[in-house]
Amino acid sequence: MKYALISDIHANLPALEAVLADITRRPDLAATCHLGDLVGYAPWPDETVALIEQAGIPGVAGNYDSTVATDYKHCGCRYEDPIQEQLSHLSYGWTRAQVSPATKRALGALPFRIDLLPSGGHRAGPRVVLVHATPTLNTVYWTEDRSDEFCLKMAAHAGAAAGDVIAFGHTHKPWHRDVGGIHFVNTGSVGRPKDGDWRAGYVLLEIGQGKVGVEVVRVEYDIDRAMRGIRESMLPSEFAEYLRTGGQPAPVS
Ligand SMILES: [Fe+2]
Repeated sequence: MKYALISDIHANLPALEAVLADITRRPDLAATCHLGDLVGYAPWPDETVALIEQAGIPGVAGNYDSTVATDYKHCGCRYEDPIQEQLSHLSYGWTRAQVSPATKRALGALPFRIDLLPSGGHRAGPRVVLVHATPTLNTVYWTEDRSDEFCLKMAAHAGAAAGDVIAFGHTHKPWHRDVGGIHFVNTGSVGRPKDGDWRAGYVLLEIGQGKVGVEVVRVEYDIDRAMRGIRESMLPSEFAEYLRTGGQPAPVS
């Protein structure tokens, strides 16, 4: 069984459209699921949520989704520096003011976690746990340098055993590790990568015959349209440069 896992779209409609077009060209996929953070940082939150709903893509709530939906005081994001923190507050305020009531309801209805059982729920078999960040909170950053102990602690929280998969996003940097036979898969980000590669990222996950296959896919998209959309909105124009550099803009001196 093969799945496309897409995460951290962050209202970047051109990136989402390109990823969905790429997914459509793969007829062997059983399903596509999203791992949250549909909105924030780019000017198409309503359009992104509408397209996800129209495409019938199930998914979980990212921190951005659950904080916008509940009118929380901030987006639950971590900031790289004080400037990014200031910009992040602007993005959160803009997004909260911008989203339609229907979008807000859709974000609030997203579950925290989804379990896939590729062999069927009638058989003991591998489980794929989908969360935004970790099985405990959608704000914790599960980076590649986390210890094996941390991974196994999260697996215990999720009830995952050898042969199972826990997939998540949130850090915007893709990685994959096998600890004790449990696969930990960070899907990277569709709409706001931070690994220096501007292209939209997602993961193809294949489960079967006791094996787990993980392929990180990168897709070129109309980034000029995304950058223009940001500049023409009231969002900070720095977000356009952030997209162009894959999350690694030159430091402001
Ligand atoms: Fe995110």
